[in-house]
Parts: sequence; C-alpha cells; structure tokens
Amino acid sequence: VRQPMIAPSILSADFARLAEEAAIVAGDPAVGDSGAEWLHVDVMDAHFVPNLTLGLPVVQSLLQATDIPLDCHLMIEDPARWAPPYAEAGAHNVTFHAEATDDPVAVARDIRAAGAVAGLAVKPGTPIDPYLEVLRDFDTLLVMSVEPGFGGQSFIPDVLDKARAVRRLVDAGELRLLVEIDGGINADTIEQAAEAGVDCFVAGSAVYGAHDPAAAVRNLREQAAA
Ligand code: DX5
Ligand code: ZN
Repeated sequence: VRQPMIAPSILSADFARLAEEAAIVAGDPAVGDSGAEWLHVDVMDAHFVPNLTLGLPVVQSLLQATDIPLDCHLMIEDPARWAPPYAEAGAHNVTFHAEATDDPVAVARDIRAAGAVAGLAVKPGTPIDPYLEVLRDFDTLLVMSVEPGFGGQSFIPDVLDKARAVRRLVDAGELRLLVEIDGGINADTIEQAAEAGVDCFVAGSAVYGAHDPAAAVRNLREQAAA
C-alpha cells in the first residue's frame, strides 16, 4: 500500500510569515503528528508563467528557517541555468518544466549531481508519451492539474490519464519514480487522484485557506489513503 504524501504549497500562505507557515504544517512529533512530508515552493518568473513569486534568496532563507524538505517547483524559463542552484542550496526536490527545455535529461543530471531529487513537471496539455524514456533520469513526475501560474483554480480530471500511465510503468518495474499532482487538490478531488496512482499531493488553497492548516493536511492524507 502506498503511503500518501502531502505537500502544502506556500503559494497560498502569508509570504511575510513563511517560517511560521512552514512550521504550521511541519507537524508536532510530541502529539504524534508527523505533518506534511514536503513543503511545496512555487517559483515563478513572470516569463514561463504570467505570475511572479519568489526565487533563490527566499528559498535559501527558508532552508535556514525550517527542517521540512522543500519541494521546489520551478515555473521558469532556462532551467539549465537556474535549476541547479536550488539543489546546491539544499532543496530536497528540484522540479522544472518539460516545456521549458530541449534537454531535460541534462538538467536532471545537474540537479542530481548537486544532491537533490530531480522532478519533471508537465502542464495539463502536455502529453507524457514523448517523455517516458526521459523519465528514467527523474525521481518524480509532477502532473499539473491546473494551468501553472495561480493557486485556487479548478482541478482538470483529464490529466489523471497521465498519472495512470506512469503508475502502470512504475508498478511494472519499468520506471522508478514518485507521481506528484499539483493544482486544485482538495477534499473533493484528492480521492480520484489517489485512485489514479498518485503518490504525492500538492495542496495550496485547501491547506493554507483552511482554518486549521495542520488538520487540513491530516484530513487530506486520510482521504487519499481511503
Ligand atoms: C500553480 C502552482 C500550485 C498551486 C496550487 O501554478 O504550481 O502549486 O499553489 O494551488 P491550489 O492547490 O490552490 O490549486
Ligand atoms: Zn506548484
């Protein structure tokens, strides 16, 4: 049985209090709450996507302020140049977009060489078949279930076919990676994603928009495991 992983997205958190927002979902071992597995950090450059968020200096500060592994989702152009420094800084995952480079394998190798886990992200309209060979060089596949750029959008269920296809290859031993989904994940949508074979669920507004973000993480995990 797969253990569902939850990665709250700080895109929906208060950017003036990022360390506290990280701590809120990191769990409290004293009360047996293991908390979120990863903290999802959405880096946007206002070129690859029409929005601008934060970059390497903020990630470096966040790495000093929290022990929760950072899952950096780079929605940026030129990942060959800009992605490896996130790995060098100590990010746990560095995920970049397939649409942003002609040589994803080279970028993945640089990320891994710098000590991080390499992730490939695909937008909702990007097919997965052309990347199945490439995925041998990755540790995670991030299936976007909204158009990248903004939190709080509606889940696009069609993308689950991609999760199912890759799940089959993983279960058959042909690929070795985690399947992650990002966009519109909440109490209403997480079960269908779990059924499609997703391992890790990113949730922004469903966690940080909740009254009790720590409880939201626990509830999402329970629903994904159901
Ligand atoms: C969107 C980001 C997502 C976003 C998800 O471009 O990649 O990580 O924070 O937000 P929700 O969970 O609100 O759809
Ligand atoms: Zn994201």
